[in-house]
Amino acid sequence: MTAPPLLLTRYRDVRDALNDARLVIHKPLAVGEAMAHVAQAASGERSHRVRPLWQSLAQQLRSEKIAALTGFIEARVDAVVRDAEARGGMEVVGDLAFPLPVAVMAELLGLPDGDHSQLRPLFEAITRGHDFGSTEPERQHARFAQTAVSRWIGAGLARARATPMSEAIREVATAEGIEPALVAYWGTMLLYAGSATTRDLIANAIGLLIDNPAVIEQLGRGALSVEAVIEEVLRFEGPVRGIGRIATEDMEIGSHSIARGDLVYLMLADANRDPDRFSDPDRFDPMRSDGAHLGFGSGVTHCLGAHLARLETRIVLTRLRPLLTDIVRLSPDDWGTTRLLRQRKTLRIAFRFGVRKR
Ligand code: HEM
Repeated sequence: MTAPPLLLTRYRDVRDALNDARLVIHKPLAVGEAMAHVAQAASGERSHRVRPLWQSLAQQLRSEKIAALTGFIEARVDAVVRDAEARGGMEVVGDLAFPLPVAVMAELLGLPDGDHSQLRPLFEAITRGHDFGSTEPERQHARFAQTAVSRWIGAGLARARATPMSEAIREVATAEGIEPALVAYWGTMLLYAGSATTRDLIANAIGLLIDNPAVIEQLGRGALSVEAVIEEVLRFEGPVRGIGRIATEDMEIGSHSIARGDLVYLMLADANRDPDRFSDPDRFDPMRSDGAHLGFGSGVTHCLGAHLARLETRIVLTRLRPLLTDIVRLSPDDWGTTRLLRQRKTLRIAFRFGVRKR
């Protein structure tokens, strides 16, 4: 019988583990050579073949580069808000939080615009397959979903519009001789990492604001910035609750002995509520100044898309800010069952003013 995974939950242990190269990323769905490359690259031990691609992605996701997407994101958010005003409300996840990040990633990658809602069940299957305690049928389902997204992305990338990111990927893939199947896996990983999580940051931020009228009031009178709200959402209800690692040798983290081959979960959500690190950690308080949450990880694998996720969420909250006092929640909390993402299935809201004609 295999030993149950170790869960690290204290801030210091999780931060140390994130920065320890002896713990490599656990990829329960890795299939074939292509995924092995992805796993290796993601573990920080970048193989020389994929390192340039990774570096190029990091360049493309720098804050000054992604600032060029501001107009695109604003137009999308404005269209959704206008539509919601005309209907008197919206279902936040399906109308805004899921489609927006997917549209943004498609725009970055030069993929065709349109309705990408068919990706939602595929992403949810991938998430379930990565979850701890996932069953073999769930992992199998997730592999099918991963392959389906990868084929779709591969075909899309082959005729992608020229964008800085699609050009950069093309250039590096040609220069390094990286085969299209591997590029498609990279695209899949990027699309999934960039949208499955940003969805939850947006929905969780709106959910927390609706439940905390005092914070809406502080925002309204300028005592608080949207940026501070986002950082506190990432700490208090960050999308990624935990990430898996495999020990490559016997080692210690804090008071825990870990054997080579052990599976260890680094629980970012618990670390972000560690009372030794954050005062009154179970209180949602964007005015706090203790900073430095682990919502985007830490160290060599720190999230490459953090600027983009923050930009999208900032635009959503800024555009919704004038309406926040008029929003009422129509549905109770409806959390998904995955233990690795803090993910709402739905969040229905309505405007107190009902339908607004423009
Ligand atoms: C709120 C939204 C997001 C959250 C909470 C989030 C969270 C994270 C976390 C915790 C990690 C570290 C994983 C590890 O150490 O194993 C990570 C890595 C990563 N994220 Fe994000 N992410 C978000 C959005 C994005 C976006 C928008 C993109 C792409 C555009 C992205 C791309 C990546 C990539 C490529 C990595 C791997 C970095 C590396 O290994 O060097 N993420 N993310």
